[in-house]
Amino acid sequence: PEIDKNPAPGADPLSALRRTKVSIVGAGAVGSTMAYALLMRGVARDVTLFDIDKAKVEAEALDLAHGIQFMKQAEIVGSDDVQAIAGSDVVLVTAGAKQKPGQSRLELAESTTNLTKKILPQLLDVCPDATYVMVTNPVDVVTYAAVKISGLPASRIFGSGTVLDSSRLRYLVSQHTGIAVQNVHAYMVGEHGDSEIPLWSSATIGGAPLLEWDGLDANGPLSDEARAAIAYEVVNSAYRIIAGKGATNYAVAAAGSRIVEALLQDQHAVLPVSSLLHGYYGIDDVCLSVPAVVGKAGVSRHIELPLSAAELRGLQNSADRLRSVVRTLGF
Ligand code: LAC
Repeated sequence: PEIDKNPAPGADPLSALRRTKVSIVGAGAVGSTMAYALLMRGVARDVTLFDIDKAKVEAEALDLAHGIQFMKQAEIVGSDDVQAIAGSDVVLVTAGAKQKPGQSRLELAESTTNLTKKILPQLLDVCPDATYVMVTNPVDVVTYAAVKISGLPASRIFGSGTVLDSSRLRYLVSQHTGIAVQNVHAYMVGEHGDSEIPLWSSATIGGAPLLEWDGLDANGPLSDEARAAIAYEVVNSAYRIIAGKGATNYAVAAAGSRIVEALLQDQHAVLPVSSLLHGYYGIDDVCLSVPAVVGKAGVSRHIELPLSAAELRGLQNSADRLRSVVRTLGF
């Protein structure tokens, strides 16, 4: 928040500062871990968990509150009353059915868009001015539905998209090359799901083009086979984790926390969130992930990276797949 540089005589300049508040809808594995990530990273002063299951949401908040001594100063509230989210700067929506082992995210589309139709108006009644970040899967379909249902400017309602998938891609490239993940820049774009694609042509390692990587540090250059194996592992990560532990939660929560940080600190950070496209390489009227600039106003613009012909085809395929799903759901 801006400090009033010309406070009235005698006014307390610090009174212009106000506490940032983030609310999370859904106190399941993802929502509760997202609250934990926000608190551990000191992203917001007030964190509220809202869920219709009173016992669960209060217990999650109590368990988090008991660790506040070890976190940045914060207040955590857990409530089954939607009014508890009042005054939120950002609302993260994680509520919805979770993938069963082997189930694709798109198979959840009908149930989670119906849930979105039900709860989003309630949230907007309490927080009409918040920025909304959809996390519920299939997040691109849910985000498109939320844009249409809410009537908010598309900049202020978007989805977590492939921020998580791009983190998986960067991790695997880092593991292969032995170079720190922070020095690997690469995106997964398109659907947060089976049709997403890696943008190898624009990826860099320490600023050097990934496709020309010499591999002197470890495992040699990133051959076609190595890159195909990495892409396969990224696309199928969630299935693998869900088969082992029933859900994913840590990395998606960290990704959500990163997005909120960019919003609250007005970072103008480039993140592949899922947002409504307006003619991105001719792709229109669909929500999917491409590099976007995220700051206090939400998604302010998309960045048209150079794409190979195959990458453009892959992005168009993802868009077509998502558009057909939202159309069958009546959006
Ligand atoms: C995953 C879930 C969040 O990819 O879709 O882990």
